[in-house]
Amino acid sequence: MAKIILTGDRPTGRLHVGHYVGSLKGRVELQNSGKFDKIFIMIADAQALTDNAHQPQKVRENIIQVALDYLSCGIDPQKSTIFIQSMIPELTELTFYYMNLVTVARVGRNPTVKSEIKMRGFQASIPLGFFAYPVSQTADITAFAATDVPVGEDQLPMLEQCREIVHSFNSTYGETLVEPRIILPENKACLRLPGTDGKAKMSKSLGNCIYLSDDEETVRKKVMSMFTDPNHLRVEDPGTVEGNPVFVYLDAFCRPEHFAKFWPEYKNLDEVKAHYQRGGLGDVKIKKFLNQVLQAELAPIRARRKEWEAKLPEVYEILKAGTEKARAAAAETLYAVRAAMQINYFENK
Ligand code: TRP
Repeated sequence: MAKIILTGDRPTGRLHVGHYVGSLKGRVELQNSGKFDKIFIMIADAQALTDNAHQPQKVRENIIQVALDYLSCGIDPQKSTIFIQSMIPELTELTFYYMNLVTVARVGRNPTVKSEIKMRGFQASIPLGFFAYPVSQTADITAFAATDVPVGEDQLPMLEQCREIVHSFNSTYGETLVEPRIILPENKACLRLPGTDGKAKMSKSLGNCIYLSDDEETVRKKVMSMFTDPNHLRVEDPGTVEGNPVFVYLDAFCRPEHFAKFWPEYKNLDEVKAHYQRGGLGDVKIKKFLNQVLQAELAPIRARRKEWEAKLPEVYEILKAGTEKARAAAAETLYAVRAAMQINYFENK
């Protein structure tokens, strides 16, 4: 069976380093591994509209931002098909049929949906389209017969729900859809990068994100004002490493070669941690190191972004060509789905 990747992001803002370690970096590695037959990367604007129905401008503007973030991280349009969700009506049609295979109660139990309803204050009045987005996400995944879905850990319940719908479809109408699996980063620190303020998640509304497109000085300022262990008041005090945002970021980003290059006093992160726990190592030193590590990772991304920003028409061409290619793939699945559901009236004699 062909190995196919489908993944995507909502265009509600520029992508940040949490997206990067949680999924984007891994996607580029998967893309370059040569192990996949097809790779589809979707800008999920229709899904973004499910909770931004009154801000279409915001969604529209961020399509190009997300595309630039993809390209600057190393998503290669020669190897990966980047496309825009709403331009593929087949996805909407699949969603409509899949909705018959899911109960309201089941979607209501989806932990991601639950927490998003809370976060958005939707408790009193949940838009039906928003409530149905796990079903639409199942359409996204199955339309491309995806076998592998690299996403952030928060998307795990979406994948579970997707697999249930696939089972239900296949047992009702016959084997038609492919059951996908999730690909998560192996490094635990990458699963959920906290905000610079130590809050569980980076979020634009909390103002605690480091964006891939932030300039050098902005990144430096954000790193130097990061939260650390609140009880580590004086340099001599013993400090806590667990859950300390600066150390979580180091766990996610730093590699042995960074020590040789930027901080030869230590061989590796374990030595730094041990010193911090003993006491006698100040936060400022660690932040300066983290800043160097981050700048080293982000500098090539920033440079590529500049190049792409100078040729936006080409970026739109990439999106257009990708969308056409993706639409053809989705149409094949829809054709099979219609046949399985016996609604291909003018096809079967
Ligand atoms: N829900 C995903 C997010 O918020 C975006 C998304 C939409 C997606 N459809 C998808 C991810 C299909 C993977 C597969 O980031």
